[in-house]
Amino acid sequence: MDFSFMSEYYQFYIEGAKITVTLAFFTVIVGFIFGLLLALLKLSKNKLLNFIATAYIEFIRGTPLLVQLYIVFYGLPHLGISFPGLTAGIIALSVNSAAYTAEIIRAGIQAVDKGQMEAARSIGMGKTMSMRYIIIPQAVKNILPALGNEFITIIKESSIASIIGINELMFNADTIRGNTYKPFEPLIVVAVVYFILTFSLSKLMGYFERRMSTDDRG
Ligand code: ARG
Repeated sequence: MDFSFMSEYYQFYIEGAKITVTLAFFTVIVGFIFGLLLALLKLSKNKLLNFIATAYIEFIRGTPLLVQLYIVFYGLPHLGISFPGLTAGIIALSVNSAAYTAEIIRAGIQAVDKGQMEAARSIGMGKTMSMRYIIIPQAVKNILPALGNEFITIIKESSIASIIGINELMFNADTIRGNTYKPFEPLIVVAVVYFILTFSLSKLMGYFERRMSTDDRG
């Protein structure tokens, strides 16, 4: 094993990590907004809206992210809709993440005990008010940790974006492999960099989760 290439190439990992985090960050934000909308459609009583949301969620979760990325980056330009690489990456990842996030939000809301709504209604709160002050604050505690996990998933899944030439972590590691003729060591380093990102994020989440749960005891 020879890691001497690092002195010359460490900057590639840093720059790549920045793009990876950017990609994941925007994906989580856009995916959340879109996912929230889907979750509301799915919870609605309207059969048509319900069907649209369910079909979207099932279809996206039932097809590979790679195929979705190809459709956005190579397919849509044939319809005259083309995006630069990074944007296409964020779109494809967000389209994908929204389906998972929608389920996180729906499950988070439905996991709040039914008695909470009944209790709120029985002391005279309206439906909207009960949602706003009783259900949502409890649902947020279910949803936030799972959203953190989604962030971690997206950091890892974003490596797929290297395929369309986005110079994120994985792409840069491949460039180093090519430049140094080293097939192995650059991959070990990139794995470690991904791990540092995901591990720190999960430690950070653990910290916030503990803070949120102290409210319950106090
Ligand atoms: N590897 C999965 C696929 O190819 C993507 C999973 C994305 N997961 C997520 N939570 N956004 O379809």
